[in-house]
Amino acid sequence: MLLSCRRLHLPSLIVIWLVCSGVAGGSNPLCPASCTCKPTDRGKKRISCLAGGLADPIPTGQMDPRIEILEISAPEDKKNWLSVTSIFQHFKQLEELHISNSNINQIAMHAFWGLPTLKILDLSLNNISSVFDHNFRGLVNLLELNLDDNRLTALQSGVFKHLTELRILSLQRNKLRVLVPRTFLKLVKLHVLRINGNKFEELDPEAFKEVTELRTLECRYCGLERINTQIYHLLPYLTHLDLGYNALQYLYYDEFQDLHRLHTLKLDGNLFPVILENTFVNQQQLRYLCLARNRIAKIPDTALKNLTNLVELDLGYNKLYKVESVAFTHVANSLQKLIISGNNFKLNVIKTIIETVLNVWDLSVANMKLETIPRNFFPDNIKSLNLSWNNLTDISQEMFPRQLEILDLNNNKLKGLNDSAVLYLETLKTVNIENNPWTCELCHITDMFFRVNKSTLFKNATCAFPSVLNAKKLLKLSLDEIPPCGDQEFTEEDFEATSKRGLFIGLICIVTFGLSSIVFVVISCVKRHNDNAAQRAKRTAESLQENSLENSVTVFSKSQISFQFPLDLMERKLSVSTIDEIKRDERPEIKRDESQGMSNGSVVTGL
Ligand SMILES: *[C@@H]1O[C@H](CO)[C@@H](O)[C@H](O)[C@H]1NC(C)=O
Ligand SMILES: *[C@@H]1O[C@H](CO)[C@@H](O)[C@H](O)[C@H]1NC(C)=O
Ligand SMILES: *[C@@H]1O[C@H](CO)[C@@H](O)[C@H](O)[C@H]1NC(C)=O
Ligand SMILES: *[C@@H]1O[C@H](CO)[C@@H](O)[C@H](O)[C@H]1NC(C)=O
Ligand SMILES: *[C@@H]1O[C@H](CO)[C@@H](O)[C@H](O)[C@H]1NC(C)=O
Ligand SMILES: *[C@@H]1O[C@H](CO)[C@@H](O)[C@H](O)[C@H]1NC(C)=O
Ligand SMILES: *[C@@H]1O[C@H](CO)[C@@H](O)[C@H](O)[C@H]1NC(C)=O
Repeated sequence: MLLSCRRLHLPSLIVIWLVCSGVAGGSNPLCPASCTCKPTDRGKKRISCLAGGLADPIPTGQMDPRIEILEISAPEDKKNWLSVTSIFQHFKQLEELHISNSNINQIAMHAFWGLPTLKILDLSLNNISSVFDHNFRGLVNLLELNLDDNRLTALQSGVFKHLTELRILSLQRNKLRVLVPRTFLKLVKLHVLRINGNKFEELDPEAFKEVTELRTLECRYCGLERINTQIYHLLPYLTHLDLGYNALQYLYYDEFQDLHRLHTLKLDGNLFPVILENTFVNQQQLRYLCLARNRIAKIPDTALKNLTNLVELDLGYNKLYKVESVAFTHVANSLQKLIISGNNFKLNVIKTIIETVLNVWDLSVANMKLETIPRNFFPDNIKSLNLSWNNLTDISQEMFPRQLEILDLNNNKLKGLNDSAVLYLETLKTVNIENNPWTCELCHITDMFFRVNKSTLFKNATCAFPSVLNAKKLLKLSLDEIPPCGDQEFTEEDFEATSKRGLFIGLICIVTFGLSSIVFVVISCVKRHNDNAAQRAKRTAESLQENSLENSVTVFSKSQISFQFPLDLMERKLSVSTIDEIKRDERPEIKRDESQGMSNGSVVTGL
């Protein structure tokens, strides 16, 4: 075969090679036809069957018995129809089993018996309505169980009692209404419990008696109307508590007195009207606090007292209009990121706040109806500034802090930017400037127009005015299409304002008089004026090219955010917890989080 191949042309060779390898692949006894069998980056033996349309039985007989990871899933429109029975026993090294989007209805008795090596079992996105303790028998080393997005309606006491090594249990978006006492019996090593998106009204403390090692409890969108604080008493090691988007109405001043180790507390999307004094005095470890989207109208002096390690505070979209600036002094030294967007603060209140929290370098003041920003308003050490959803009509470099790198100006009222504004924005690392009412007339957008092919800034910009050019992309405009600064500039609002002052009519009289005498001159000038505008525009274009914009363009293409918050990392860690991480993590998480936080802190200051 090889000999004869030599005499063939290269294309024919390729065809033969393709055919040969195709046949070989198809007949590979260790890799079923609809699956791919490629090791992971870490060299684990993995089989992935992701094409969809599979029906029972899962072809485990055709799979290499030495596999370590088996993943079966399907596209949304081509789901599998599978059931889970005891067909995995011969995989003596199986560590991870993922079967999702496969319409699994139930798990057979002892389905995973004989799989002591299994560490991760993921049966999310199926149609499982009940599970029993015998389903999980034999999974003596299981670390993570994921039953998200099924139809579980109830869990019996002790249902997970065979999973004595379990660290992560995820039951999100099922149809649970209660957690009965001892639901988590024997899960003494559980660190992470995610029950988001079920419809509990209340959580029974009796259910939490056994999981005293819990570090993370997430119950977002759980319909909770109140919390029995006895739960906190049972969970003294909690570092991450997320109760966002429930219907909680009050926080008692001693609500969190038992949670001394909290790092992250999310209470957004609830109904709190106020934060009481001294609510967080026992949370000296807290690094991230989110109180966004409540109804908070007041932050008393001592509300943030003792939060001496707080790094991120989100107070966005509440009903705040004033603030005791003393309140922020408690977090002034540690705070790095502050969100006060969507409140009713006037500029002077914002100024008072940002002058108190002088270490903040990431500030969000979006959605506050700001129309203009005075020079030197923001402290120079701010690196990231969110001014989106305001009413800014004009910008200039002097409005922004000297060390700015990231700027969000989406959804403002900008009609155009002049040369110096464009040049300034191009020095920043990341700029969002979508959804502004760009007015495509020479006086507003000439400078932007000549930059449109060179920078990513205006790639998506479309004209809002004049009406003939509405929705036209700046990128697609040609110079002759752009009208000069015409009457359009004189908007109806301006018109009204002027006439209100009672001067307009008087002006018209004078102008009409003058006009009749100089009308001849004007007619002869108009044409020249237009030609001049176009010529000026062209000249600008040429001079811009000479300026060698390539530099600033490259700055842009590199625009990547090189710093991150400790909390981002922390959350990512929790969500991608892998076996190895857990293995390393026999000691409490607190330590590791702290070291991460610190290494990040140094990145931040190194900027
Ligand atoms: C899911 O299971 C229920 C019964 O538990 C059944 O009525 C329903 O049709 C199933 N859904 C799908 C998509 O198979
Ligand atoms: C604030 O923290 C300190 C320790 O740093 C602690 O001694 C004090 O009791 C706390 N304040 C309150 C009111 O609990
Ligand atoms: C800026 O704030 C707006 C409104 O709160 C938000 O939607 C947007 O994601 C923020 N931008 C960035 C870059 O975070
Ligand atoms: C700011 O813009 C919003 C949205 O267009 C508008 O409803 C509001 O009246 C404006 N506010 C001020 C003070 O101009
Ligand atoms: C650009 O516009 C800003 C704000 O209106 C103004 O302060 C600045 O002088 C203008 N620069 C140029 C070069 O026209
Ligand atoms: C931008 O590029 C398009 C197509 O490549 C071209 O038609 C247009 O004239 C260019 N615009 C400018 C201002 O150079
Ligand atoms: C421009 O729009 C496209 C499609 O709407 C989007 O994918 C892209 O992210 C946008 N680019 C910028 C720079 O916002």
